Amino acid sequence: MAARGLLLVSILVLSCFAETAFGAENIISFASLKKTLVVSASHKQGLLKAGEDKITVTWGLNQSFPAGTDSAYKTIKVKLCYAPISQVDRAWRKTKDNLAKDKTCQFKIVAKPYSSANQTFEWVIERDVPSATYFVRAYAFDANDHEVGYGQNTNAGKTTNLFEIQAITGRHVSLDIASVCFSAFSVVSLMGFFYAEKRKARKSQQ
Ligand SMILES: *[C@@H]1O[C@H](CO)[C@@H](O)[C@H](O)[C@H]1NC(C)=O
Ligand SMILES: *[C@@H]1O[C@H](CO)[C@@H](O)[C@H](O)[C@H]1NC(C)=O
Repeated sequence: MAARGLLLVSILVLSCFAETAFGAENIISFASLKKTLVVSASHKQGLLKAGEDKITVTWGLNQSFPAGTDSAYKTIKVKLCYAPISQVDRAWRKTKDNLAKDKTCQFKIVAKPYSSANQTFEWVIERDVPSATYFVRAYAFDANDHEVGYGQNTNAGKTTNLFEIQAITGRHVSLDIASVCFSAFSVVSLMGFFYAEKRKARKSQQ
């Protein structure tokens, strides 16, 4: 009886250890990542409009790292990230060192298989991107989908090469509302048309 109790307790304790061990393994710290990628973003000068303007992102391995640095790299995910000025007083955009909890980079630009050659992607800023100041960051992921390296178009303090995006403006919103109204109108009129046709058919049958 006592032996069985002891066994149960040991299993419980062991599974707790296993839990924390796995938990710890899953925490990937941004500070632990090496900045092995060179990332640049080009765009027109001034305010960029969501849904209209483009950002051309180029990324590649920084050649000054030793050969084999990228041997575990499987995919690259390029993201649009909030600059510090647009994170102030906004907990939902906060930077956390634990990447699973980090809210800095909320918009995916592109994901591609890793290649040691430079890659370029032209992105039309998506329509749901809010007005804010941003930078671009690329993460390298390994086969387990864990971050293993990164690069960004700004410096460590996130003060250089930032750009400002303006959300879809009121004009666009009213256009969107108009188009929703028009589609609702066409569905209603289509239904009305069918109803009228049915009634006509029924009438002619009688
Ligand atoms: C490449 O890495 C080296 C060493 O970390 C660094 O000094 C250099 O600035 C990097 N180059 C670019 C273009 O980021
Ligand atoms: C990638 O581009 C950088 C400059 O942006 C250049 O120095 C480097 O040689 C290029 N790497 C490759 C593999 O073409």
